[in-house]
Parts: sequence; structure tokens; C-alpha cells
Amino acid sequence: MLFDLHRHLEGTLRVATTRELAARDGHPLASAHDLDDLLVARGPLGGLVPFLAKVDAAPAAFSRPGDWQRAARECVADAAAEGLDYLEIRFSPWFIRQETGLAPEAVIDAVADGVRAASAETGVRTALIGILLRDLGPERGLEQVATLLSRRADFHAVDLAGNEGGVPAADFAPAFARARDAGLRVTVHAGEGAGPESVWAAVRHLGAERIGHGVRSVEDPALLDHLAARGITLEVALTSNLHTSVAPSYAAHPIRRLLAAGVPVALATDDPRASATTLPAEYEAARTRVGLTDAELTRIAETARAAAFAWP
Ligand code: ADE
Ligand code: ZN
Repeated sequence: MLFDLHRHLEGTLRVATTRELAARDGHPLASAHDLDDLLVARGPLGGLVPFLAKVDAAPAAFSRPGDWQRAARECVADAAAEGLDYLEIRFSPWFIRQETGLAPEAVIDAVADGVRAASAETGVRTALIGILLRDLGPERGLEQVATLLSRRADFHAVDLAGNEGGVPAADFAPAFARARDAGLRVTVHAGEGAGPESVWAAVRHLGAERIGHGVRSVEDPALLDHLAARGITLEVALTSNLHTSVAPSYAAHPIRRLLAAGVPVALATDDPRASATTLPAEYEAARTRVGLTDAELTRIAETARAAAFAWP
């Protein structure tokens, strides 16, 4: 069974669809010299910010609500082609508004419609996670949550993403308290663009039940013990970590040390288009390039299933 718990809708937008929609609208992306290079990482980029620039370049071309319904359908269709059984799709309605001017509520409705239809067609079970964007600042946190809660039934969980180097997670505590009060589950990007203190903050101040990436937890043995004891799952995306230069290579990726410390680890894709990857490719890299055993990969797959927010 294949479970991907961490996939950004914005990071799945196909290059071909982006090109087609940009051409329709006369958007500058249509005349980009090398659209592939703008949207896809081919190797280490030296940091999280240049990687996010590739993820975040595509949404501007999706200028109508119907484009987001199509994006959602294509995301689920691609997941079905990979052989996924279950997919959690996360996106930031406020980021999409910033890029397109669309009302975030209209984007949520379109994405939820598209995901529902494609999930029914393909049999891939899906759940939506609403992202609060760090870059918009904590003063926008409560407003972003209010938007998600205006469509409460569409979401299973809330996440904090964007430039982790920017704003401390603790500043979003009121927003996450509101989300938890409404019954949303919590995962937080941390320990990717910043160190262990960021993971501690996500757990202590935001109530994170899972951590997006979290790989820099290896720098703090007490944190590893805490994650293991509490059963807090790390959503590890190997290829994304190479592209953001959080890990120097597959072979030197900290995943081995995380597993050895007893921390629950699930493999995920993060941004399949921006990283030109799939979930099966991530498992294959874990096996052949990291050198994990079949038993370790089975344990990882079981961890993903156990940590899923909406698997029965
Ligand atoms: N948004 C898309 N990919 C991301 C990542 N790897 N870290 C933080 N925010 C993201
Ligand atoms: Zn992510």
C-alpha cells in the first residue's frame, strides 16, 4: 500500500498545464525562455528559498477557479498513475490569492470539487490539508485559519509552510489553537529550513502531531527521544531535501539516524513536479541510494499508514 502524507498541490501543477494556461491568458510564463528550468529543480539549489521559488512560480498561471479544479484533478490522476492508495493534498488558499487574485474560498471550493471527482474516478483516497503561510506573518494567521474554517468540512488538518527562516512557529500559536479547537489535526513544516528549536516550537506551541521534514531533529538527541516517545511522525522527502540542500546526498541523508533513534518516519514527495519525483521513486531511492533494507521500508510504509489523518 502506498501512502503519501505530504504533497503540495502547488508543487504538483504540471509544466504542460502551466504552459497551456499561461498561453491562454497571455501570461509572461508563456514566453519564459525555459519553463522547465523555472519550475523544476534538477539538482541541489543551495537552500529552501530557491527551491520554493520553483514550487511557487507555477500558480500564477492558474487564474480561474476552474483551473484549480483541473489542477486538483490532475494531481489525483498523477497519484493514481503512481499507484498511490492514499494521498493527503495540502495547499495555501492565501498564497494562491496572492498569486492570482482569486478569492481563497473559491479556490478551496474548486480544489475540493476536483479532488472529490478525481478520487471517485480513480479510487485514490484523499484528504485535504489547509496551509497557513509563514511568509504572510503571524498577524495574518487567524485570518488564514478563519478562511479554512469557512470550509471546515473540506479539511482534515492544518499545516504551517513557507520560509521557515522567516517567522518563528510560536507566533502562530493562537491560529493553531483555533484550528485545533475546531477539530483539525496538525502537521507543521519544521526542521527543514531551521534547526531543532523549530521542531520543538512546532510540537510545544502548535500541537504538531506530525512534522513536515523534521530532518534537522538529528542535531538534538533529546528531541529525537521526545519524537520517538510521543510517536510524532516525520514526513521525510528525500529528493526535496537534496534540492533544498538540507541533506548533502541520499547516502548521507539523516533518515538512518532518525530510524535508529526510533523516530516514526514516513516517506513523502513534497513537490513532485518541482522535484521531478514520484512516491515509488522515493522508495526506490531509499532502497538503492540510501541503502535501507526491505524491512525498514516496510516499517516506513506501515508508519505512513498509521499516521494518516483520514485512513479508516
Ligand atoms: N512549500 C512547498 N514545499 C515546501 C517545503 N519543502 N518547505 C516549506 N514550504 C513548502
Ligand atoms: Zn512541504
